Amino acid sequence: MNKSKTILTALLALSLSVNAFAQEPRTLELNIGKPGAPIQPTMYGIFFEDINYAADGGLYAELIKNRSFEFPNAFQGWKPFGNVELRNDGPFERNPHYVRLGNVGHGHKHTGLDNEGFFGIGIKEGEEYRFSVWARAPFGGEGRIRVEFVDTDSMGERQHYTQTRVRINSSEWKQYEVVIKSPVTDPKAILRIFLETPTVSVDLEHISLFPVDTWKGHKNGMRKDLAQALADLKPGVFRFPGGCIVEGTDLDTRYNWKNSVGPVENRPLNENRWQYTFPHRFYPDYYQSYGLGFYEFFLLSEEIGSEPLPIVSCGLACQFQNNDEHAHVAVEDLDPYIQDALDLIEFANGSPDTKWGALRAEMGHPEPFNLKYIGVGNEQWGPEYPARLEPFIKAIRAKYPEIQIIGSSGPNSEGDQFDFLWPEMARLEADLVDEHFYRPYDWFLSQGARYDSYDRKGPKVFAGEYACHAKGRKYNHFYAALLESAFMTGLERNADIVHMATYAPLFAHVEGWQWRPDLIWYDNLNSFRTASWHVQQLYSQYKGEKVIKATVNGAALTGAEGQDGLFASAVVDGNKVYVKVVNVSDKEQSLALNFKGLKRKQSVSAVQRVKFQSENLYEDNDLKNPDNFVPVVEALNATDIVKIEPYCFSIYCFEIN
Ligand code: AHR
Repeated sequence: MNKSKTILTALLALSLSVNAFAQEPRTLELNIGKPGAPIQPTMYGIFFEDINYAADGGLYAELIKNRSFEFPNAFQGWKPFGNVELRNDGPFERNPHYVRLGNVGHGHKHTGLDNEGFFGIGIKEGEEYRFSVWARAPFGGEGRIRVEFVDTDSMGERQHYTQTRVRINSSEWKQYEVVIKSPVTDPKAILRIFLETPTVSVDLEHISLFPVDTWKGHKNGMRKDLAQALADLKPGVFRFPGGCIVEGTDLDTRYNWKNSVGPVENRPLNENRWQYTFPHRFYPDYYQSYGLGFYEFFLLSEEIGSEPLPIVSCGLACQFQNNDEHAHVAVEDLDPYIQDALDLIEFANGSPDTKWGALRAEMGHPEPFNLKYIGVGNEQWGPEYPARLEPFIKAIRAKYPEIQIIGSSGPNSEGDQFDFLWPEMARLEADLVDEHFYRPYDWFLSQGARYDSYDRKGPKVFAGEYACHAKGRKYNHFYAALLESAFMTGLERNADIVHMATYAPLFAHVEGWQWRPDLIWYDNLNSFRTASWHVQQLYSQYKGEKVIKATVNGAALTGAEGQDGLFASAVVDGNKVYVKVVNVSDKEQSLALNFKGLKRKQSVSAVQRVKFQSENLYEDNDLKNPDNFVPVVEALNATDIVKIEPYCFSIYCFEIN
């Protein structure tokens, strides 16, 4: 099957001048009498990867960086002062480091340490923060520490905003916890700990600070505004944990899900490949604490109502970073990797009597997570990929025939690798194929009909990573989002074959990004949703139940030559009809509507129109103006003709009575 598409010359559809003398609007025929393929519940989804400080420093609400002193530079993120000793025989086997705070030897000197957080520690006035620490007084006695929120830049008489004391009253390791209310808002506070008992030493391990008010109030929880931004997308599927971090720069640093479950204190640190992938965006303090691990991913999926979709390593380290075949696991040595995949399914779905099901139950979720999908490999390519995928498929099918398996078509939207991998995925009977396309304007404009010609008998499509990346404008902007909305009419029209789609990447910290555009941006206190987020959200909200044919002279509007930059698709949802039209041109256009297939006595009434439009093409929302670009709901009166302004994504909503 050759799925290569000819990319039309730049801005083809856009440059088509709309015929100024066109007297008659086109007629869009809507065949509501004969609904087509169901829209899959997995449409439209989200793709999470710990890139751009998406986990630690982002969604994962922990505010302390390097909380267990396990970074290769054990004091990275910390400023110790006085007598602070790093030790490595702590209570948590896989995170053995801790610090001993002791007498500095002079009454006017102090022992303690500061933590800088992730680009500072964001605190809000009146909000409560849970400070916790594993501690002991190793030589007996009662030790005491003073915990402060501090502004080191303060010109005031004192640097601290607030102080709280914690008494350490045992020589055995115990967890201590105290809730601190912040009297101020500061996006860049630091946490300072003083030893107040110079004659009683204390040992400290896993020093942690979370807002009390996390998403759903979980202790090891998620940042509320960011999790809410996911929930508001009503995602059908939640893919995690990546992306390239699934693969690792080397096999040792691949995402190892087994290290991400169990007590957080004992989850070993992993390097984050996005620390150094781009030397021009270099972040030497970027690691994965795994505090946001597979249990948390599954739980979050459940809480936001989406199907979990974990991706596991297929034994190939990142192929962009490794040419040497020895960097990868040999096919004959894959068993432990295959076992990891099988164990993951057991962790998600197994009864609490099974080894991994028991761990899930112990972590607080005896009921299964009802996993239905698993991806094997990220964006792998070459013959080495199917060679490794095959034994995974055999083993998973044998033990869990009900699980759907997702393979990859590589990093490109077309070309040799793509053309090699699709037939390979069909041969191996993968259920879905994960396609990735970070492509420019002209590509998005030319792909309205991409899926129309796909083989209906082969695997289904998972558009697993995509975003419009404009040349010279590699940042979020309205026009890119508009082209994404245009392209997505083709996903919707091809609901029989396109079963999943996830924009990527999802999150980015404004001070810590490696890749853009991204769907949701934030600093330490605030976040904003981009125009692309709104496009995704509109597709989810008006997803409908079944596709209906929407054609002009028998052809779908796909931005093709002669269609003046118009794209359209339509769905029914009970007695509602949602017609999505995207006008990427700079001219207002009209469409006459012809509802076909109405039964006798049935009539159509107009409900409303949702309009997402701007002529401010190269800007987007930002932290100061989070709602500059938002869709608006307007009255809709006519059922026979609709207008669509320049640069507009519009959803016309009707009711059949
Ligand atoms: O989304 C960023 C990266 O793009 C992903 O990690 C990878 O799968 C793709 O190359």
